[in-house]
Parts: sequence; structure tokens; C-alpha cells
Amino acid sequence: MSRLKVRQIPFRFDEQTPYYWNPHNPYWGNAVNLVSMIGPAFERYFIKAIRQSIPHINDETLREDANLFCMQEGQHSKQHLAHLQALIKQHPGLEQTRLQVMASYEKLFERESIEFHLAYAATVELLFGPIAKFMVDNRHFLFQDCDNQVAALILWHFVEEFEHRNSAIDVYKHLVGSYTWRMRMALRVVSHLKEVALIAQSGMSEHAPTRAWKGTIVRGGDAGGQIFRDIPWVNLLRFIGHLLCSQMPLHRPDRLKQPEWATRWLADEASGKDMTVYAP
Ligand SMILES: [Fe+2]
Ligand SMILES: [Fe+2]
Repeated sequence: MSRLKVRQIPFRFDEQTPYYWNPHNPYWGNAVNLVSMIGPAFERYFIKAIRQSIPHINDETLREDANLFCMQEGQHSKQHLAHLQALIKQHPGLEQTRLQVMASYEKLFERESIEFHLAYAATVELLFGPIAKFMVDNRHFLFQDCDNQVAALILWHFVEEFEHRNSAIDVYKHLVGSYTWRMRMALRVVSHLKEVALIAQSGMSEHAPTRAWKGTIVRGGDAGGQIFRDIPWVNLLRFIGHLLCSQMPLHRPDRLKQPEWATRWLADEASGKDMTVYAP
């Protein structure tokens, strides 16, 4: 039996949802907005690839897991889109950027093979285990005293990314299998990710307002090296180590230890707590 649970968290994003939701580090705030800009298209792409593959999976547990993976990703996509729509209402030019990101994933889906799509999903989802652990372990630096709803959105998303960290690689291994081919495709995956990041960041810089911060002007798409400026360097080194390990041939995502806070998040959600503002 699969251990994944599909949760519908009733976030309420509206015109009051601030673009600059993180007053301590607008660069990190912009990086999260970037996830809401790219996430719906990116997750839709994964869902399409995995749904098309499910009939070819001949292991019942894996089929069930793949289906629940799609349902979790569907919820992520829906809630990031709701967040993005709230930003678009305030800054309508962002709609054009959303459509451009969408179109890039649609073209990619038409252009490449199903094996490539599964490799893309597996490679990126392998990174999400370490990213989730990093976000949760450093939650006080990244999310304290911010807009709680945006913080809760991204923390919910990544707790579930941690929960389904095995799904996409398990599907890839079952249906395609080759590690070396996936690694060869990784360059194309990175190049596509760079392409959509560029579309999203330049659109967000063009259509969202700027913010004066610590003597500089931050544009809506600025999310460079400053995003982790408050994180102790040992934590960053550990994070880089985990990211590298995630791409090794014998890596098993479930060996990554679940952070204690993520365990608490799961228990609190199961007990019926309000998770729409659940943040440090
Ligand atoms: Fe997701
Ligand atoms: Fe995921």
C-alpha cells in the first residue's frame, strides 16, 4: 500500500497577498514567487508524463503510488496557481509570463519522448528531497515573521515533496531504467530549466513592482545568490552535499532522514490543525 496522502489545504490567496511577502529577504521571497510562476506548468508536465505511463506499470503498489503522486502534484499546481492568480490580479502583466512558461512546457512535451519526460521528472524530483530537508531545517531563517500563508504554502508543498521523494525515480527505474541515459539527458533538463527560469524572471522583473531594500532596488524577478544570505555556511555545504548525493547511481531517496518538524507537520495536519498558516 502506498503511504502517500492527498491533502486539500484551503489556502485563501487574494489581493491582500503581498508580492514582497518576506520583508527580511526579498530575494528569497522572489524565489518562492518564482516557484508559483513555474510550478503549475512544471507539475502539469510531470502529471501528463506519469499519467501516460501508468498503464505500462505492471506493479500494483507502484501504480497506486504513481497515481497518488499525480494527485499530490495536482494539488500543488492548483494552490501555486491560486497564489499566482492573486499576484496577477495586482500586476496583470504577469499573466503573459505565466502563458509563456506554460507554452515552453507544452512545446517540450510535444518535442521530446516519454522516456525523456520521465527522466526529467526523476532528476528534478530527486533534488526535491534535499531541498525539502534544507527548507524545513532552515525554516527560521527562511520563513520567520513573514506572510504566514505564503510560507505555509511552500512548506506544505515541500513536506509533500519529501513524502513522495521516491515516486518519480521509482517510475523511471521501472519503465526506463538506464542511469547513464538519465545522466546524459540531465544536460537538456538543466538547459530547459534555465530557459523557463529566464522567461519567468525577466517577466517578473518587467511586470512586478520593485522594492527598495537595504540601499538597493530589488526587481520582481531578482532571486540570485542572495536568496540564502542568512543561512549559516555549514548548512549550505550540507545542502550541496545532499544535492550531489541525490544524483548518484546507488542513491535511495528514502535513506534521507525525515526532519522532525516535517513529522510534526504531518501529525498536526492529520489531527485537523489549520495548515493554511502553519509556519515557524
Ligand atoms: Fe510538487
Ligand atoms: Fe514532486
